[in-house]
Amino acid sequence: MRFLDVFASLLGVASLTGYVAADLRITADHFSFGGVNYPGLQTLNPKERDTVIRAIVKSGARVIRLFIRQYGDYPDPEPEVGSFDRSILDMFDDTLAAIHHISKGKVKVIIAPHDAHALRETNDVPCDAYCKRLEGAFLDFYSNEQGEYPVAVREHYKTRLQVLFKEYTSRNFGDRPWSELNEVILGVDVQNEPWSSISPIPSGEPWLCEIATHLKDTLGLGKSNIAVISGGISGAQSPDGDENFPDSAFNCDAIDVIGIHGYYAMDENGEATAGTNWAKMFIPGNTLTARAEEKKKLLLVEEMAYIHTELGLTYKQQAIWDQGNALNYRGIPWIYSKINNGGEGTTSTVSILRDDTAAIGALKDVLKRAYGSRSKFNWSKFLSPPPALSNSTYVALNPYIPEQSDCTFGCPGYLCDAPDGCKPDLICKNSICAKPDEKQPGKMGDDCNSKQPCLEHLKCEDGLCQECIVRPSIQPKDPRKTTVDGDPNAQCQPDSTSTFTMRPFCLKPSAFTSPSRLGNPCQNAAHCDANEFCDWGFCKVCTEGCLGMKCKGNNKCKTGFCNSYGRCDYPGQKKRAHGPGARARGRSGPRGPGAGPKGQSGPNKVRSEAMRINTPNETPVATGAA
Ligand SMILES: *[C@@H]1O[C@H](CO)[C@@H](O)[C@H](O)[C@H]1NC(C)=O
Ligand SMILES: *[C@@H]1O[C@H](CO)[C@@H](O)[C@H](O)[C@H]1NC(C)=O
Repeated sequence: MRFLDVFASLLGVASLTGYVAADLRITADHFSFGGVNYPGLQTLNPKERDTVIRAIVKSGARVIRLFIRQYGDYPDPEPEVGSFDRSILDMFDDTLAAIHHISKGKVKVIIAPHDAHALRETNDVPCDAYCKRLEGAFLDFYSNEQGEYPVAVREHYKTRLQVLFKEYTSRNFGDRPWSELNEVILGVDVQNEPWSSISPIPSGEPWLCEIATHLKDTLGLGKSNIAVISGGISGAQSPDGDENFPDSAFNCDAIDVIGIHGYYAMDENGEATAGTNWAKMFIPGNTLTARAEEKKKLLLVEEMAYIHTELGLTYKQQAIWDQGNALNYRGIPWIYSKINNGGEGTTSTVSILRDDTAAIGALKDVLKRAYGSRSKFNWSKFLSPPPALSNSTYVALNPYIPEQSDCTFGCPGYLCDAPDGCKPDLICKNSICAKPDEKQPGKMGDDCNSKQPCLEHLKCEDGLCQECIVRPSIQPKDPRKTTVDGDPNAQCQPDSTSTFTMRPFCLKPSAFTSPSRLGNPCQNAAHCDANEFCDWGFCKVCTEGCLGMKCKGNNKCKTGFCNSYGRCDYPGQKKRAHGPGARARGRSGPRGPGAGPKGQSGPNKVRSEAMRINTPNETPVATGAA
């Protein structure tokens, strides 16, 4: 975003490609997408429902995630364990048909066939038949396989899935079972948020793969190219934890997609945007993304949301857009949690029927940008590709930053795509503006000379790395537009407009003046971007032994460390689930409301011993409210 229209047009595509080879922009020819959670869509009357579906289709969403459970007077289809109400399934089937017809097959559905919150009345979900049967010992849902009840609860749940996906025949899709409807069903969760809020998984962990295998093989989802999704294991994902992706999920062949649920607020002190945690979580080559590629799992943010802060609702649009934009930039598909057709209050809910000055305006904007965003992961088995993939070489500026905001550009946690894309005292690392590490050489005010250079955006003068000023943005002639004359990339003033300022503009990347980028000074790989290594004091593009790659036989890694999964990693990442970004944490939003108790991290063992645990009810929270 720091580039000027002049430069972009002079340089042409070839040289831009040369430059951006050094950034982390995704260039693979796979697509990403966005979607929405709409809990209870099937309970609306058909006319209202179809109005909502038309609005969703127009919004740019490719996916709607739906839940099968009780909503108020609308019952769960399994009112008593083992007995089913066909009329409830018919209403759900009608909803599938309406989505398929109104979207002309472009929008698909993800089904959560049961909600773990129904097992103990959390998140305002009423206690269902399983909950009544378990009498509060909700973990028995996962660990009871001995037939402690007349039939083991696990077998009952398998029967539920069999009735839903195999025995029920669709009245709208030619009497076929749902397990075959891949024209409208993208994927099925094993459950919404299994073991919700408990992490690591205390008992019954083999349940996960057993249910996934039941769905994929026994019920035939795999044969029909319908994805089996892990559903947000243990509830909300903490920014540097691994709740949603325990080894048992990665190691289960039947799981196609790891579903991630995260609830991250914008930092009230301006230390992070609502999207910063997402940008850090999916740094290419970090432990999570490298493992997903190796294990052939797709990563999907199944729930993400606006979290209300003291800053107030004025920032709701900005926070929604920042999250979608960060995920689009990293090429990870996402599903907003959640939308409705009524009021919003101070909740994460976005009303789909409001005009674009409300939260929905920002959600629609970023959903449309998701359509055509690139991904490293190939989703084409489960969703049709968009007509064209975006070729943008820039991080877009957030058009929804309120006027009264303290920061509009390059602040901590903002995305950046070039060395001069942040405030001068910050460093653009892994596409995120961050305070430089104490030991990072070449910071503003550091000593410098011909052998000891400054960070790329700073000039060395009088033996010191000089302060510079951020390029002001070009104001559009038409104030109603957020971009200059419709060009989303032309937002910053060129050098020549530097009339009289006390300090020079921050330096543009050297690729604009010389064929190869010099790179930032460094002492070790952790001072460089994820796709670089530290080569004799300078960050250089890495091609071998790089972050996320398999370690060679002698464990050689240019990142300096081979992690416990046999991948090159930074030192000190062993127990962490994520890559370099995770280290700069502490400014993340609140711990997800449903996240597990602290201090319980560590390697997860697959345990299956039955445990009868009664845990106190939580206060209702936003997590998985979708
Ligand atoms: C993506 O996967 C599909 C099959 O699932 C395959 O046919 C296609 O070639 C893949 N696309 C790319 C670009 O590799
Ligand atoms: C991106 O570039 C490719 C190759 O030049 C082109 O086929 C495609 O249409 C472009 N995408 C967009 C959205 O312009």
